[in-house]
Amino acid sequence: MAGVSGCIKYSMFIFNFVFWLCGIVILALAIWVRVSDDTQEILSSEDLGSSPYIAVNLLIAVGAVIMVLGFLGCCGAIRESRCMLLLFFIGLLVILLLQVAAGILGAAFKPESDRILNETLYENTKLLSATDGSGKEFQQVIIGFQEEFKCCGLVNGAEDWGNNFQQYPKLCECQDAEELCTNYNGKRVYKEPCISFIKDLLAKNVIIVIGIAFGLAVVEILGLVFSMVLYCQIGSK
Ligand SMILES: *[C@@H]1O[C@H](CO)[C@@H](O)[C@H](O)[C@H]1NC(C)=O
Repeated sequence: MAGVSGCIKYSMFIFNFVFWLCGIVILALAIWVRVSDDTQEILSSEDLGSSPYIAVNLLIAVGAVIMVLGFLGCCGAIRESRCMLLLFFIGLLVILLLQVAAGILGAAFKPESDRILNETLYENTKLLSATDGSGKEFQQVIIGFQEEFKCCGLVNGAEDWGNNFQQYPKLCECQDAEELCTNYNGKRVYKEPCISFIKDLLAKNVIIVIGIAFGLAVVEILGLVFSMVLYCQIGSK
């Protein structure tokens, strides 16, 4: 045992054991969601496109990677296997580099994605006034959003709803303070269009994702350092 720090060895073992368990749980849940009949129906019936499938598949991949890395890390530490520790180090390094690359790409394309988001929202405004049923789901989503955020329409307020304004009885109904409301077709409706609220909400979620990514990066760097130290200590035994 001389030369190998028990502290590093056992913290490596415990941390990676936990990761390994987390990986198994994520993998098991994701596979269960993917194959179970009930969720199959929900995933495909709601007309959400293919995004839930992509999310579940991504979760399966993430779970598998965490499980394999956790296994390499915890077995590599406890058995003092340089080969496993090296694989663990390389795997973790690749993930960290991918994360950094994604961060750089994200920052570089931020103006572009802001523009695309803005244009998509302007484009989708048409769906609110569509009477042929094509925008039904989008309309329901926006109605829920309007009630929660006390706003109306997407970009121009109540007029975005066009002829549909009469179809939904309580659409945009404003019972708040005067300064939040305006009159439209003889009804009191919320004045503020929803576009800025939607953008704010997305921006908040992006910040959460960035925060998680930074937290992960710190853990990954710790893992890199620990596995490297252990690898060297085993070598010099
Ligand atoms: C969003 O797009 C619309 C229409 O394309 C444009 O008039 C508006 O200035 C854009 N707003 C921002 C903040 O880019």
